[in-house]
Amino acid sequence: MSKITEVNKEPPLEHLAIIMDGNGRWAKQRALPRIAGHKRGVETVTKIVDECVRHGIRFLSLFAFSSENWGRPRPEIDALMGLLLQFLASQRKKMLREGVRLQVIGDSSRLSQSIQEALADAEKETAAGETLTLVLALSYGGRDEIMRAAKQIAREALAGSLDIDQLDNRSFSRFLDTGDIPEPDLLIRTSGEIRISNFLLWQTAYSELYFTDVLWPDFDAEELQKALDAYLCRKRRFGLVDV
Ligand code: IPE
Ligand code: IPE
Ligand code: MG
Repeated sequence: MSKITEVNKEPPLEHLAIIMDGNGRWAKQRALPRIAGHKRGVETVTKIVDECVRHGIRFLSLFAFSSENWGRPRPEIDALMGLLLQFLASQRKKMLREGVRLQVIGDSSRLSQSIQEALADAEKETAAGETLTLVLALSYGGRDEIMRAAKQIAREALAGSLDIDQLDNRSFSRFLDTGDIPEPDLLIRTSGEIRISNFLLWQTAYSELYFTDVLWPDFDAEELQKALDAYLCRKRRFGLVDV
């Protein structure tokens, strides 16, 4: 087993995004209910947040529940929401202590009142955190986000407060849930699926992609290090030519 390296003085990247997938399969392999996989998945979240802090990464975006996941069986949805509440309650003190700021993206109007309130409280409480911004994508879909942004732009244009001709990539992106969060440098997806599944469609236009067969509950510091090492070997060109 490779030794976990010390904190990098120079963070490997600014923004890491992760599609945390494979909880259900992890449970199935062990003949456990899917929710057991989700529970282990939450444990992985806390470990990976710690790792990101250790690496000096400033933004970590986690895909926790998609707009399409609303189509799952009600008991699974309820269990996931219960785990979310537990996570917020159990991590609150630690987040404040370590300067982790919570920011939620997605269509929160579809979440229950109690979840919305717990999230709003956690966001407010941790707002001064400057170490790491933990962006939790909940009830989130990239298409839905772009659609909501387009509707808001149309509303402001119709009201006369926005000049459509002044709109460009930069000003459009401010209408997205991610506001002025920088675009992800690296997007990791676990569990062997090679797709984006509607995550951060606009923001990942030039992100480096990393896919691993490891299931999310098994993802750990060592696997993260492998992904970061792979990222550091990439040559990003952004459509330009090498100099
Ligand atoms: C990812 O694990 C967590 C959520 C989507 C909420 P899955 O629940 O999708 O696990 P698999 O893909 O069925 O293994
Ligand atoms: C993507 O995983 C959503 C989350 C990780 C929250 P899914 O398991 O829902 O995606 P598909 O169905 O495999 O594309
Ligand atoms: Mg899945």
